Formats: sequence, C-alpha cells, structure tokens
Amino acid sequence: MGTVADNYKDAASADAKIVVRDINWVFHLKRTRTEPARDFIALEDINLEVKKGEFLVLVGPSGCGKSTLLDILAGLAHPTSGAVYIDGKQVSGPALDRGIVLQGYALFPWRTVRQNVEFGLEIKKVPKGERKAISDRFIKLVGLDGFADRFPHELSGGMKQRVAIARALAYDPDILLMDEPFAAVDAQTRENLQDELLRIWEETKKTIVFVTHSIEEAAFLGDRVAVLTANPGTLREIVKIDLPRPRTNSDIRSSAEFGWVRHKIWELLQNHQPEVRGAIDSRPVADAISPSAEL
Ligand SMILES: Nc1ncnc2c1ncn2[C@@H]1O[C@H](COP(=O)(O)OP(=O)(O)OP(=O)(O)O)[C@@H](O)[C@H]1O
Ligand SMILES: [Mg+2]
Repeated sequence: MGTVADNYKDAASADAKIVVRDINWVFHLKRTRTEPARDFIALEDINLEVKKGEFLVLVGPSGCGKSTLLDILAGLAHPTSGAVYIDGKQVSGPALDRGIVLQGYALFPWRTVRQNVEFGLEIKKVPKGERKAISDRFIKLVGLDGFADRFPHELSGGMKQRVAIARALAYDPDILLMDEPFAAVDAQTRENLQDELLRIWEETKKTIVFVTHSIEEAAFLGDRVAVLTANPGTLREIVKIDLPRPRTNSDIRSSAEFGWVRHKIWELLQNHQPEVRGAIDSRPVADAISPSAEL
C-alpha cells in the first residue's frame, strides 16, 4: 500500500518538481490589551505545481504570505496543514537540493564575501582550488570584483544582497528559492542580474521560485506568474507568460506582448478588494499601483 506521499506524487503531473498541496498557515495570536486571542490565516488552501526547470514567479501585496510560502518550500517553516513534495518526497526540513536567497541578506557576518560565497561549497566538500575558481566566477558575475575580502558590515545593502545571490548560485542547487533578491539593487544592476539569472537558468535548467514586488520583473522573468491576494493569502490566478525565450531586457520590454502581460498581472492585483478578516497587516491591495510600479 502506498503512503500519503505516494498518493500525492501519483496525483501530480509527471514533470512536477515541486507540488504544494492544500497548504494552510495559521498564526495563533496571543491576547493583547486591546484584542482577544485569535487565529490569523496567513495562507489558505494553496495548491500549486512547479514543473522541472520552470521559472515560477510569485507576486502579491505586502503581507499576503509570499515569504511564508517560500519558507515552507525551503523547509524552514512547517505549514499548519497540507504538505510540500519535492521530486515526490515530502519536505520535512531544509536540504541541499534547495538554494535560498531570503528577503534580507542573511549573510554570515563573521565570514568575508568570498567565505560567504564558498559556504555551500565547503558543505559539499568541493576542494579548495575549485572553490576559489567558482567563488571568483560568481563574485565577478554579481559585480563584486575587488570586494572578496570585505566583511558584510563593510558593504551596502545592495552589495550584501548580491553576495547572497552569488552564494546561492555558486552552490548550484536543483531548486532556487529567491525572495525579492533584486529589491535592494540599483536599476541598471537589477537588469544585469535579471539577464544573468535567465542565462544561468537556461544553461543549468534549474527550477526557480522567485518572489518580487515588481510587475515588470515578474513578466520579464517568469514562465508563469502566480498572483496571490491577501487577508487571507490565497492563490488568485496563474498567468502564463508566452513571451519567447531567450529573453533579454533590451528586446523584450518594448514589445506589445510584454505590455499585455504586465497589464494582465496589474489588473489581477488591482481588481481584488480584500475582505479584511482582522488581519495584522491589513494594508489594502495596491491602491495606487500602475503597471510599472512596485507593489
Ligand atoms: N510570526 C508571525 N506571527 C504572526 N503573524 C505573522 C508572523 N510572521 C508573519 N506574519 C503575518 O503573516 C502574513 C504573511 O507574511 P509574509 O512575510 O509571508 O508576507 P509577504 O507576502 O512576504 O509580505 P512582503 O511582501 O511585505 O514581504 C503577514 O500578514 C504577517 O503579518
Ligand atoms: Mg516577504
């Protein structure tokens, strides 16, 4: 007789890498001076499949549960109910198949840039000389040549973020989970990093789940864009992006299809009037966003 995991695996498409089944995430909020104790639903009935080698983008208003969902995929958080399966196996904790770029930088403060980038390689027991060649490549890729021996506190926010990206890429996991990885970098660097990420993804066939507040970025990067809504966090719709590949910033952004996709995502975010169920962070969904705006 098969296990529950086997049943889910059977129900999923054959080319699914990540399967998210009936995820609910409920925070129990303690009583405060003004409010009684209550449960707060951060994610409600999330079902999703990410195909092998797919680039899936998650967008949604602040507080809709994007980071929480990514933490669950990473195995850093356990859902209140439901489960995540990777290659048919239920996720029970973090593992070496998943590289994570979290919101914020999460660098090791006592390690230099190079030592941060080489961290995963040390765990994988990659020999020293090889480690150096790999870290050189990725430090250069994110534009931090000359900063390899600096410590995180000697870097700007955007530079720290780039170290985190280099660390995740150098480690070469099957799955990359990226939570607003380009939020803190300048516009030009951001476009360069987007192009590079697509190039690396096309070359290595990784499965990527990428969170962003930028509609433009979502439309440019994704095979599909999952639009979430807040209060409670639910999956509203998945928009398929049929723009040709390979994509580069210089040729895609001005196309009519790009404009259409951007507008479609914007509309999905715009039209949703959240029903505020005593949310903690009850900012209304993007009141005044425009298709090119950050949420
Ligand atoms: N430890 C916690 N206790 C209670 N509520 C929490 C906790 N952590 C997160 N939340 C709530 O869960 C919801 C989802 O948070 P999450 O950080 O996943 O949102 P997000 O979509 O990533 O937002 P942002 O776009 O601002 O990063 C929010 O309403 C938040 O207030
Ligand atoms: Mg977040």
